[in-house]
Amino acid sequence: MPDDSRDIVRRKADHIEVAASGGADFAERTTLLEDVHLVHQALAEIAVEEIDLAIELCGKRLAAPLVITGMTGGTPRARIINRDLAIAAVKAGVAMGVGSQRVMAEHPELEDTFQVKEAAPDLVLFGNLGVVQARTLGAGKVAELARRIGADAMAIHLNPAQEMIQDHGDRDFRGATDTIARMVEALPCPVIVKETGCGLSLQAVRRLAYVGVKTVDVSGAGGTSWVAVEARRAAEGSAARELGTELWDWGLPTAVSAVAAAAAGVDVIASGGLRSGLDVVRALALGAHAGGLAAPVLRAQRAGGSEAVGDLLARVINSIRTTMLLCGARRPTDLHAAPRHLGPTLRSWLDDLGLPAPGVTPRP
Ligand SMILES: Cc1cc2nc3c(=O)[nH]c(=O)nc-3n(C[C@H](O)[C@H](O)[C@H](O)COP(=O)(O)O)c2cc1C
Repeated sequence: MPDDSRDIVRRKADHIEVAASGGADFAERTTLLEDVHLVHQALAEIAVEEIDLAIELCGKRLAAPLVITGMTGGTPRARIINRDLAIAAVKAGVAMGVGSQRVMAEHPELEDTFQVKEAAPDLVLFGNLGVVQARTLGAGKVAELARRIGADAMAIHLNPAQEMIQDHGDRDFRGATDTIARMVEALPCPVIVKETGCGLSLQAVRRLAYVGVKTVDVSGAGGTSWVAVEARRAAEGSAARELGTELWDWGLPTAVSAVAAAAAGVDVIASGGLRSGLDVVRALALGAHAGGLAAPVLRAQRAGGSEAVGDLLARVINSIRTTMLLCGARRPTDLHAAPRHLGPTLRSWLDDLGLPAPGVTPRP
C-alpha cells in the first residue's frame, strides 16, 4: 500500500475511533431540540395504523423520515461498516450516505469500500464529497463518483471548522458557492449540501437556494464535534490541540439551523446530535423534512453489526410513530403545525437571528 494510502487509512480509522468513543461530542453546547416541547393530545382520535411515516426525499420514497448520514469509506473496516449500515437501512426503508469519496477519487482501488448497492440494491444512497475536492475534480469526475456507487443524490459537504484545525487541512474556501452551482447544473442526480456538525446559517442556505440547491442537511451543533475530533487527534501541546480545544463547541445548534434552513424554503434534513425518535419529531416540528443520525448508528454497528443497526433504526422509527400519535399527527408534515412551546434559549436564538418561531399555535 502506498504511503499516502496508509495515511488515509490511519486518518479514517482515527476518525471512527474518536467519534465512536463519544470523546469528541460537544461539551456544553446542545442541539436545543430539548427546548422544543410538543403539546400532548389526549384526544388524538388516531389509530396507530393510520400513521404514515413515508416521505419523499430527493425524488425518492422513504418509508420513514430518517437518514443515516455519511460517515465512512476507504478502509477494510469501512467496507464492513458501510455494508452493515446499508443492509439495515434498506430493511428499514431509510436512506443512507457514504463518507467522503475523496479517497476513492485518489485511489480507485478503494472503490469497493463504498460499494453497497450489491448488498442492498433498493437502498436510497447518497454519495459524498467535500466542496474543495468537488472544485478540484470538476463536475464530470464528481458525477462519475456518484455513478460508480449508484448514488441517488450527491452530498457535497462543507467543513471549514474541521479543516482549519486539521493538520494539512484545506485553508482556501473561495469559490464554494460557484462550485456547488456547477454541481447542481451538471450532475444527473440531486445535490444535497451538508455541514458536518457546525450547522448552516440562514445566509448560507439562502445562497444555496439561490444557486438551485433543493435539499440541505444542516448537521448542526450538539452531537459529534469535528473540531473536537481533530483536537483529540492533534499532538499534545500543539497549536492545533489548543485551537481545537478553544473552538470545541463552535457551531449553530441543530434546532436553530433547522429553523433557518426551513425559512430559506429548501427541504431540510436535520442532523447533528439527534439521538432518539423524539429528537427527530422535534426537528420535524421545526420544519425539517427528515432527521439524520451518524454517531449513534456507528456505535450500534460496532456493538452488533447490521442487526444492532436494524434494532436501533426500528426503535427510533417506533418512537417517531408513537410521538406522532401523541401529537395528533398522521403524516410527518402534520408536525410542521403541531402546537408547541419553545424554551427560552431557543426562542432567544431565533429572536436574535430574526428567524420566525415556526408553527405558532393559532388563537381560536
Ligand atoms: C465516523 C464519522 C465519520 C464522518 N465522516 C463524514 C464524511 O466523510 N462526510 C460528511 O459529510 N460527514 C461525515 N461525518 C459527519 C456526519 O455525517 C454528521 O454530519 C455529524 O457526525 C453529526 O451527526 P451526529 O451528531 O449524529 O454524529 C462523519 C461522522 C462520523 C461519526
